[in-house]
Amino acid sequence: MHVIPVELGGRSYDVTIDHGLLNSFASAAAPFFKSYAAAGNAPQRAVPFVADTATKRIYGETIERSLQSAGFAADWFVVEPGEGAKSWAVLEKLTDWLLELGIERGDNVFALGGGVIGDLTGFACSVLKRGCGFVQIPTTLLAQVDSSVGGKTAINTGAGKNLIGAFHQPNAVLIDPETLATLPPREMGAGYAEVLKYGLLGDAEFFDWLEVNGADVIAREPEALTHAIATSIRAKARIVAEDERELSGRRALLNLGHTFGHALEAETGFSQELLHGEGVALGMVLAARYSARRGHFTMQDADRAKRALVNAGLRSEISELGLSCGGAKLVDHMRHDKKMAGGTLPFLLLNAIGDAFVARDVNLTDVAVFLDEQLA
Ligand code: NAD
Ligand code: GLY
Repeated sequence: MHVIPVELGGRSYDVTIDHGLLNSFASAAAPFFKSYAAAGNAPQRAVPFVADTATKRIYGETIERSLQSAGFAADWFVVEPGEGAKSWAVLEKLTDWLLELGIERGDNVFALGGGVIGDLTGFACSVLKRGCGFVQIPTTLLAQVDSSVGGKTAINTGAGKNLIGAFHQPNAVLIDPETLATLPPREMGAGYAEVLKYGLLGDAEFFDWLEVNGADVIAREPEALTHAIATSIRAKARIVAEDERELSGRRALLNLGHTFGHALEAETGFSQELLHGEGVALGMVLAARYSARRGHFTMQDADRAKRALVNAGLRSEISELGLSCGGAKLVDHMRHDKKMAGGTLPFLLLNAIGDAFVARDVNLTDVAVFLDEQLA
């Protein structure tokens, strides 16, 4: 078992990684249970869960069995899988449901699922009665190594992804790596891109380790998987503790590959055509090559980054996407990025493997020319 603290003063919490945690969920989560009174009734010994149909179907029974043995029951709010759940409409239903249950500020709502469930639940809890507690139980690799830690919560609107949100830290993150056994391979690859990101942005030794052991991580070999998850979370916890609200530039490092990646996701309609992590993978290759074009990174290292992603089954060339647009259109998407400040867009670039930095002098016309070359 690994317990990794996220040190944020009064908002500190632990991330627990334990194989088989869900089988003994009641004992792992007991400190976060509190009875709540359903609309004027006597307090219930029930625990509120938000899940999607897949995570409820696969893990609901295991959790209920464990709760029953401790004298608790579960209340469920279940949504259809996918980005559609991160909407005003679902948020309204969820907050109404939590109010009906009589959730108080001191209660915790449990988010069982991937980044969609964590982001939706976290945002609902940030506004419910001006803030109630929540606990993340991430079940995708992406959510385990990235979205469940750090307190970014959000929903999407017609104007774009994650534009309505709040920083709201969970009270705990409970990770059972065994949940990844049921994760589709494509989702596993998308999460792996975020794992590799930690090596590229700040930990050359971890990158080297992933070059050798990445296949075992993807194959969900328990020791390799746990090492990859724990190392990723330690890196994220360190960065979040230094710059919780992305003000100093430290947390911005976590956006490596995201500016290019988001433009590709936007061009493909934020659809199943390109998952978020797949966009980040392509974006990291582009960031590496663009860094080499500017002369502060080598093409050999850009090729290493590409190979590490290809070995995990990820696409690494934007020419493989069959896009019908040119570089200028992708740059147009970037202009709508929420990181745009004073007409310039900060780009995460590389000095070396394990050494990313924020460049604020990137010329978007040059980026469009570079992207045209990459699309050819
Ligand atoms: P997701 O939540 O959509 O889950 C992907 C799919 O996997 C879904 O169909 C889900 O039902 C299924 N699934 C989940 N766990 C499973 C399991 N154990 N077995 C089988 N199927 C399972 O996607 P995601 O990649 O986890 O998260 C993407 C979301 O996270 C995006 O909305 C993105 O904006 C957000 N995000 C947030 C942050 C943050 O810091 N808050 C960071 C990165 C991404
Ligand atoms: N996923 C980027 C962040 O948490 O800041």
